[in-house]
Amino acid sequence: MEEFNMKIAPSILSADFANLKDDVSVVEQAGAEYLHIDIMDGHFVDNLTFGANVVKALRKHSKLVFDCHMMVDEPEKYITDLKQAGADIVGVHLEATPHIHRVLSQIKASGLKAEVVLNPGTPVMAAAEILSLVDQVLIMTVDPGFGGQAFIPETVAKVAEVAAYKKEHGLDFEIEVDGGINAETIKEVACAGATVAVAGSYVFNAKDPAMQIAALKEAAK
Ligand code: DX5
Ligand code: ZN
Repeated sequence: MEEFNMKIAPSILSADFANLKDDVSVVEQAGAEYLHIDIMDGHFVDNLTFGANVVKALRKHSKLVFDCHMMVDEPEKYITDLKQAGADIVGVHLEATPHIHRVLSQIKASGLKAEVVLNPGTPVMAAAEILSLVDQVLIMTVDPGFGGQAFIPETVAKVAEVAAYKKEHGLDFEIEVDGGINAETIKEVACAGATVAVAGSYVFNAKDPAMQIAALKEAAK
């Protein structure tokens, strides 16, 4: 049997913003598959980060899959800019729009991979009607807005639920988790069926980010 390889998506939210290019290159060399880019608008969450301009600047320096997690109100406003900036996957929170089907369709129509994101308090079944549309489902394992928060254990059952739904309905999407991921919690989400793990503080708040990525991959096996 082929060995399971959890994809690792280092979140630049915990990187050194004054040395972003170098930090990205370190995780790329270390074998990360994705680069997780947290876009926050100060409305949907109580924090401000960056947008398409940073995606565009980093695109010149990296071949990683750019996994853009939009934590913004009115997400439809930013899709075209993210596409032009070189994004690969664009995630939109179910809680951020009354028109989730339309926004996901717009993302796909612009040639991007579409992801639906669910907060810890949102049931998996709230997304049932659009799961056949998406390339990736992101189950938040913390409440979004900040790095370095503690993993919420109740979210593991949601990962298992979405994995079971995917199998039952013969669907094809990645299952990503985000928040509080370390070499312990990654084992739980791997067992539950996650295929991509975001990690911010665990990777970048360490002396050797490459070693942290190796530890995550090993623990997820
Ligand atoms: C939180 C962000 C995460 C964050 C995770 O709202 O979506 O991507 O960077 O950080 P850690 O891994 O430190 O919990
Ligand atoms: Zn994120």
